[in-house]
Amino acid sequence: MKKLPYTVRIKEVGPRDGLQNEKTWVPTESKIAWINLLSNTGIREIEFSSFVNPKLIPALSDAREVGKLIKRNPHVTYSALVPNQRGLEFALEAGVDGISVFMSASETHNRKNINKSIGDTYPILKQVIQDAKKEGKHVTGYVSTVFDCPYEGRILPGTVIPICDQLLDLGVDDLSLGDTIGTAVPLQVEELISELLEYYTPEKLIMHFHDTRGMAIANIHSSMQYGITRFDSSIGGLGGCPYAPGAAGNVATNDVLYLLHGLGIKTGIDEKKIQEASLFIQNKLGKALPSKSLLVSGQ
Ligand code: HMG
Ligand code: MG
Repeated sequence: MKKLPYTVRIKEVGPRDGLQNEKTWVPTESKIAWINLLSNTGIREIEFSSFVNPKLIPALSDAREVGKLIKRNPHVTYSALVPNQRGLEFALEAGVDGISVFMSASETHNRKNINKSIGDTYPILKQVIQDAKKEGKHVTGYVSTVFDCPYEGRILPGTVIPICDQLLDLGVDDLSLGDTIGTAVPLQVEELISELLEYYTPEKLIMHFHDTRGMAIANIHSSMQYGITRFDSSIGGLGGCPYAPGAAGNVATNDVLYLLHGLGIKTGIDEKKIQEASLFIQNKLGKALPSKSLLVSGQ
């Protein structure tokens, strides 16, 4: 077995990916209180909301208020999802430290998610990335459906790599590769990462696993053996993409921490505080969250 890393960096995406598909409205003041709790867990990056069409994602229609009113921990980077110039304008007004642009490796998912072809997405993202960089913001490029698409089936590394190239050419600082529907198994992950590593250093890559089939933890373990040290996760396992039918939430931050700390890998994150923040949002949503570690550590 290859060597595992000493430290891993987690980006908490629960307030964005976790809430975006929730039918229960979480009041703005509860979102703020929750993000304030998350800010004191040792997590170093929080994706706090998204600046998209609020008619499509009503759960996050208060992104501006949330961004303006959260209590900033100077050790935490607060980022948000941005699809276009309008979103960037609002995100800057809300005081983001960084943004994430997003697109899909699959043409059909890209159209369903952001209402345009892959080719037509680049000029929009180009301007957003340029303007965000002018403002000194960190920019991550999400690529969704890098393994499988709910509409087109298997997506091969040869399709993903040119999109990664384009995004890096447009100026993103790093790439987050999404198993949007949570179908990948370690063999697929290893195939994609080993191809990507022929072109990019592992520091450029973040893995974003959804846990629909319970494979995310195995996939993270495999990714680490290829030198990947950055992962997105969502507290309690909340989440899912509204344009990926049947897809479950992100891998639970709680479960990732159980794995990493059990392997002796440092994250700087306090599992007890994550537990408290999980119970907080679980109570607000009025339903049990899927994280297995949360379940056994008592509710
Ligand atoms: P469009 O329809 O092509 O854009 O949407 P438009 O410019 O024609 O605007 C349509 C309406 O949206 C207009 O309002 C605009 O003002 C408004 P109307 O005239 O109907 O009242 N609008 C906006 N409002 C606020 N903020 C904005 C904004 N932009 C337009 N930024 C667009 C294109 C991309 C905006 C739209 O399709 C959209 O918002 N999509 C959201 C999709 C989304 O949020 N999906 C989930 C996140 S992606 C994900 O979960 C995957 C990820 O986790 C990785 C993984 O798991 O793989 C990242
Ligand atoms: Mg996602």
